[in-house]
Amino acid sequence: MTFERKNIRDMEGYTPGEQPKSTDIVKLNTNENPFAPGPAVQKALSEIKTDDLRCYPQPTALELRKAISAHHDIETESIIVTNGGDELLRLAISTFVETDEAIAVAEPTYTLYEVLAQAHGCNYLRFKLNDDWSLPENFAQTLNNANAKMCLLPNPHAPSGTLLPVEELAALANEFIGILLIDEAYIDFVDPSLNHDCIKLINDFDNVLLLRTFSKGYSLAGLRIAYGIGPSSLIYPMQSKTKDSYNTDFIAQKLAQAALEDQAYAKKAWDFVRAQRAMLKDALAELGLTSVESQSNFLLVSVPEPIKAEELYKSLKQHGILVRHFNHAGQENYLRMTVGNTNENQLLLSTLKQLLAE
Ligand SMILES: Cc1ncc(COP(=O)(O)O)c(C=O)c1O
Repeated sequence: MTFERKNIRDMEGYTPGEQPKSTDIVKLNTNENPFAPGPAVQKALSEIKTDDLRCYPQPTALELRKAISAHHDIETESIIVTNGGDELLRLAISTFVETDEAIAVAEPTYTLYEVLAQAHGCNYLRFKLNDDWSLPENFAQTLNNANAKMCLLPNPHAPSGTLLPVEELAALANEFIGILLIDEAYIDFVDPSLNHDCIKLINDFDNVLLLRTFSKGYSLAGLRIAYGIGPSSLIYPMQSKTKDSYNTDFIAQKLAQAALEDQAYAKKAWDFVRAQRAMLKDALAELGLTSVESQSNFLLVSVPEPIKAEELYKSLKQHGILVRHFNHAGQENYLRMTVGNTNENQLLLSTLKQLLAE
């Protein structure tokens, strides 16, 4: 006897990356920031009193939304604050997609998308990315022909780290008749010289929703706080109707604001990650482990035959280094490695060198 709905009974659920307790582990598997949150966050935390927790938090995280609004120079009505980016995805799906409608993705992609579609009980349409990770030709037309209500697109892409230019996304949004949710979880690590900025799409299109998170760029994965940016016609129904009344807590709202307002600290980490990303990419390539150009805080490393990526993952783990291996079709020969701090990256390289020589 089960009380689960049929679609829940039939699904397996998401497998999160391992979160080991030991601090001896070099953790390069879930794309966290290599630095702890900065002094502004520490100060904000120390100023929180237990009595602050007696009452409910501001339901729409108004102060934080005002700070985000000032930061991006957009209206507060265009912003919704959520319990991690994952909550925004769930909200967007449950608010805009009927269970007899479809969500579309270009695979490979963030594997949570499928799980959320299964939990919602809607259709999930997979199209294949080209071998160079670019979108299939005439993608908007394909989506329209398939009647997709929403397209979920990580950019920078996960798991490859590649970046689609704003012009291509604008053309897609223009032609696609459903909602284009651009998941910008890793946007802070994009090279600033590219001048990549999708926020302007919000003014030009009524079907674009952006996901941003404090988990990666602002070192706050443990807090669970993120936000969506979109035209008020997309934000309003989630903000006023479908989100939980108090979806983010007092501490998360305060600390996220402190982190956002200390841009100098955040930018130092982003610069560091970009420099180490370039160093790692070259050093790994010298070991025969090539990767595509990443604008994120990870590299998707191709493991050449006859070495098996899964075996290399296991050997690294035995040496105390965790990276991510996805046992999905087409991804068996890759390892995704988060850019860590200087010591972690050096240890990764020296261990790989040793393992590959064996
Ligand atoms: C592509 C992508 N989108 C969204 C998220 C969600 O991040 P969070 O829920 O921590 O904000 C992640 C987390 O790993 C991710 O990789």
